[in-house]
Amino acid sequence: MPNFINAFEEDVYKGLTAYPKKLSSKYFYDEKGDKIFQQIMNMPEYYLTNAEYSIIEAHKKILAEKFSNSIGFDLIELGAGDGKKTKVLLKHLDKGNYKFSYLPIDISKYVLKELQESLKEELPNVDVQPQEGMYFEVLKRLSEYKHRKKVIMVLGSNIGNLMHDKAIEFLQNIQKSMNPGDLLFMGFDQKKHPQQIINAYSDAAGITEAFNKNLLTRINRELDGNFNLDQFLHWETYDPETGTAKSFLVAKEALEVSINKLQLDVKFNAWETIHTEISQKYDDHTVNWLASQSNLKVIDQYTDQDNLFKNYLFSI
Ligand code: AVI
Repeated sequence: MPNFINAFEEDVYKGLTAYPKKLSSKYFYDEKGDKIFQQIMNMPEYYLTNAEYSIIEAHKKILAEKFSNSIGFDLIELGAGDGKKTKVLLKHLDKGNYKFSYLPIDISKYVLKELQESLKEELPNVDVQPQEGMYFEVLKRLSEYKHRKKVIMVLGSNIGNLMHDKAIEFLQNIQKSMNPGDLLFMGFDQKKHPQQIINAYSDAAGITEAFNKNLLTRINRELDGNFNLDQFLHWETYDPETGTAKSFLVAKEALEVSINKLQLDVKFNAWETIHTEISQKYDDHTVNWLASQSNLKVIDQYTDQDNLFKNYLFSI
């Protein structure tokens, strides 16, 4: 095994030498991947964004009441992105003169800078304190800071990209950073007609396919690989029993790829797969189970008019 310079190299090496082959969806998000994801959120098939937007819009008053207190609170968002949905809430809090600071956390300096600039223009009175870093490093830092109520927000069903064991670890880590009175507000995409889920991850324009294949482009560029993207197809499955949607890249023929930086030649049989992503869909039973495994209590839930998506409010 070569000496790895970073986690990406190690994960690609291990993933492509494993059977069955796999690559983590966390590597979708380079500069190009971030842009494709923005396009996904605007696709007609990708119902998640609009559904969650409408939940926040419809419930902003009650959310502001639940989040706020007399001395002020910190609204901490993990994986803030472009903040389109959060801005609905921020505008309402700003208008109502609620005392709060907004702390978006992201690993990407670039994402945080764009968000901060747009907020300066659209909501100049809101106190924005971007926190660059990995979620849990930042949360750990913030948990030592006990004098203000914390409301932690994770939107977009980001938790769905984790298998249940990792999702529990994620929730447990958040729980550890919470004090009595703090809240967690989190989005969970719901089980629904399987065809609607397949369509959301297998759109007619091929945007999700480009998102998935961006992983191969990234390997070509960063690790000096020679994947031919046309030799792979994007394939989505959904199991309505477990609620798990899975994305694959499937080799259409037998082929071999060289990844020079890893000194690795990878052979694919015809129709061999690389598993790239899971997008878990939930129901109340599963969310309650995840909460109980993480010492969290579900205290409220909000949905859109078609019950496509739900945001749950948790306390410790
Ligand atoms: C970020 N995450 C919640 C998205 C999802 O729905 O799983 C990523 C995505 N993958 C394909 N389309 C969108």
